[in-house]
Amino acid sequence: MESIELKSLTRRFGPITAVDRVDLLVHPGEIFGLLGPNGAGKSTMIKMITGLLRPTEGTVQVLGFDVTRHPIEVKRRVGVLPEELHLYERLTGEEYLHFTGRMYGLEESVVRTRTAQLLHTLEMADDGGRLIIDYSQGMRKKVALAAAIIHKPAVVFLDEPFNGVDVVSSRSIRNILNHLVGKGMTVFFSSHVMELVEKLCTRVAILKKGRLIACGTLDEIRASLSIDKDKDLEEVFLQTIGETAFEQDLSWLG
Ligand SMILES: Nc1ncnc2c1ncn2[C@@H]1O[C@H](COP(=O)(O)OP(=O)(O)OP(=O)(O)O)[C@@H](O)[C@H]1O
Ligand SMILES: [Mg+2]
Repeated sequence: MESIELKSLTRRFGPITAVDRVDLLVHPGEIFGLLGPNGAGKSTMIKMITGLLRPTEGTVQVLGFDVTRHPIEVKRRVGVLPEELHLYERLTGEEYLHFTGRMYGLEESVVRTRTAQLLHTLEMADDGGRLIIDYSQGMRKKVALAAAIIHKPAVVFLDEPFNGVDVVSSRSIRNILNHLVGKGMTVFFSSHVMELVEKLCTRVAILKKGRLIACGTLDEIRASLSIDKDKDLEEVFLQTIGETAFEQDLSWLG
């Protein structure tokens, strides 16, 4: 069974087609990277796959469940780190993780152990007792990440997990993602950080104006677009989406 199966997935907002007839398969145990310039439709796609937004057309299956018809079955089995975090800011990080774990039906003792381990792994052992409202941006992201995996989901979705996170924490997040995949979970994340995507992902997809314009391993994408073997992901990405010259537009700067 596939972890994620999208068929002709489409979302329109009035005249804008944010996601345009996307077909995609993500296999169990993959770390899959979703790339695309600002406004390409990455977050819209992740919201539809995780049941936060209804598709205009097309279907989403996660672990064999249709997300429109069986949203609870999907939500039970996935973890989501959204682009915009909605945390309960009057709770401490520890309380928030505890609340989240209990909400997923985990035993008290299991929640306590996992909360302590997650905070420790994310270099936040000393901050668990502080209110989320006083956390820095990166600390919020890490607590949200911990909350996304505390129930041991089979598929984890992360919308720009490395945004605003320091080098040490970025390393911990990478380790966590690799660990999850080592345990058979599937990780699907969007990112603008090409080196990390290149290092981590088994396959990537590139979105441009809602269309999936490339998908596969870096080698496969290079081959399908006749791009030189020595080009790294950043160059492949820029070449794929088509760089635009903009310097002449800034001539007023002198
Ligand atoms: N709720 C909404 N109402 C109207 N338009 C929307 C809405 N959400 C997204 N869009 C539009 O859909 C398109 C895709 O947006 P989306 O947030 O999915 O892009 P993205 O790839 O995640 O970009 P970024 O890299 O900047 O996060 C954009 O044109 C955006 O303006
Ligand atoms: Mg986005």
